[in-house]
Parts: sequence; structure tokens; C-alpha cells
Amino acid sequence: MGINLKGRSFLKLLDFTPEEIEGLIALAGKLKAEKKAGTAHRLCEGMNVALIFEKTSTRTRCSFEVAAADLGIHPVYLDPSGSQIGKKESIADTARVLGRMFDGIEYRGYGQSIVEELARYAGVPVWNGLTNEFHPTQILADFMTAEERFGSLKGLKLVYMGDARYNTGNSLMVGCAKTGMRFTACAPEEYFPDPALVKECERIAAGTGASLSFDTDPERAVKGADVVYTDVWVSMGEPEEVWEKRIADLTPYRVTGELLDAAGPQSVFMHCLPSFHDLNTAIGRQIYEKYGIRCMEVTDEAFESGHSIVFDEAENRMHTIKAVMAATLAGASV
Ligand code: CP
Ligand code: NVA
Repeated sequence: MGINLKGRSFLKLLDFTPEEIEGLIALAGKLKAEKKAGTAHRLCEGMNVALIFEKTSTRTRCSFEVAAADLGIHPVYLDPSGSQIGKKESIADTARVLGRMFDGIEYRGYGQSIVEELARYAGVPVWNGLTNEFHPTQILADFMTAEERFGSLKGLKLVYMGDARYNTGNSLMVGCAKTGMRFTACAPEEYFPDPALVKECERIAAGTGASLSFDTDPERAVKGADVVYTDVWVSMGEPEEVWEKRIADLTPYRVTGELLDAAGPQSVFMHCLPSFHDLNTAIGRQIYEKYGIRCMEVTDEAFESGHSIVFDEAENRMHTIKAVMAATLAGASV
């Protein structure tokens, strides 16, 4: 694959060629095999990285920290309340300070413009650990998992159910366009992605053989799907008040056992997680008390079914994030 990403930031998939995306997934596969075999790969020995989290995280933070340890990197975690960023110090100043101390910076937070500005001023690679608009490291893990299951990405049909205007839906659409997949967003029309991003993805798709479609009918949309994907109905940082309308609008788009059956026996279920599939979370219980629903974007039955590969997907967050750091800090490739 021979990619050279040394010194590059990883801010959104739009910035990368199909070969670079496939190259990162291949590198993740190599690092995963090495880890399973107990072969050390301390490719970034002695480096330091800053992990800025303005929103909470389990998978992304742990992936960066574990991957850093495996690569010989020392990570420093800056939690949502423990830094000056944005409150007492501008993004540009923060970037220039951290860029003097660290070899790379991860940022999870709000607007994509923030992570882009960090990258502009830092002088070291910056990695997007989720913004409102994009979640690119998630998609590397999703596609690695799909490739493990189906052998290759080209031509696979991925159907995204639910709010397709946000980070995960947007990034999946871009990723599918880049890698020649068949992407469908299924939701009420107002939840379809931004027309400007759709246009850009259509232009990319014309060169890769990908296709994009938008459907309001779940049964029709999932027919023949290889991957049925969903995400939470209300994302981090959105106001409480949106719950009522989201529940009303998106309940018909919930992933159920019947919907996976309608997709076909080949179909897998994917979710970036965390997921509201039962009442074992504080928010899940609050929503149940207020609206009387026992699950949200996916039923417990579908989540726990043989179609579900969500924990393989979660594991692959670590291998793919490790590939991003190894490639951009040390120029690693396969
Ligand atoms: N999927 C994902 O980004 O999970 P976290 O919010 O736990 O990092
Ligand atoms: N859309 C979700 C993704 C969480 C990984 C959010 O932004 O909260």
C-alpha cells in the first residue's frame, strides 16, 4: 500500500485518498496481528501526545491511551474541565503551546473548525477524536471490521438508519464514497445529510464507483444491505429539548430483529457505541420514565443478535487509532 502520512493531521476523511484510507486500515490489520502474536511495535518510542477531550469518551480515549502505550508514547489527558482551552486561552494559542511540548495532539469537542484551527497552528499532527460534523477514526474502525467480515469494501451496501446529518452519518457517507461502497441514509427527509456534503460525496463517488441514496422507507432501504448501522438519536452537546421530537421522528427507523431479517442473512449490525438498547443506563431509564420506551435506536434483541459485530468494531477503534498515530508520527505503513 506504501502510504506516507508522516507529519499529516487526521481531521476528516475528505482530506485522504482511497489508497491512504485503505493503507491505514491495512496498517491497523498488521498492528492487530502483531499485538495478538505478542510482537512489540514501539514505533514512536519516547514521543508524547496530548489528548484533549471537551466531551466525554470511553472508546476513543482508551484507544488513544492503549495505542500510545503500545507504541512507546506517553499520553497526557486533558479532561473537559481541566484545561484553559477556549475559555481562558484561544485555540490558536493553545495549539502553539501544545505544539512546543507534544509530538501530536488529539482533539474531541464541538465544531470541526476548532480541530482545523488547532492543526493550522500546532505544527505537529492533530487527530480528530470526534467533532459535531465528523468522526473519522470511528469510520476507520468500522471499515476495518467490515473488511474482516466481507473481505473487501468495494461494492458493499451500508445503510445508515437515523440522524444522518451528524458526525457518524456524515463520516460514513464520505468513507463509503471514498472506498467505492453503496451508501444509503434512511430517515425522514429532514435528517438527510447537508446537500453541500452530499454533492461533494457524489463527485467523489463518480470516480470510485460508489453510490449514494436516500430513502424514507426502512424495509425498502435495508434490502440486501451488508451493513445496517445506527447511532444515538441525540448526540453529545445537543440540548435536552430535542429528545421528544427525535423519539417521535426516529422510532420508525429503529433497528429491530425484523429489519435485520429484511436485510438478509448476510447482514451485520454495527453501531459506534455507546448505545441505548436497554434500561441499564441512567439516560435510558430517564427516557423510559418520561416517554415509556425501553430502547431507542436499536432493540436489545437486534443488539444482542448474531448479526451484531459491535464489540469487534469497538476493539478495532484501538488498532485503527494506533495506525493513525504510527503513520502520522513515524511514517509507518505496510
Ligand atoms: N464510539 C465512540 O467514539 O465512543 P466514545 O464516545 O466512548 O469514545
Ligand atoms: N453521534 C454521537 C457519536 C458518539 C460516538 C455523538 O456525537 O454523541
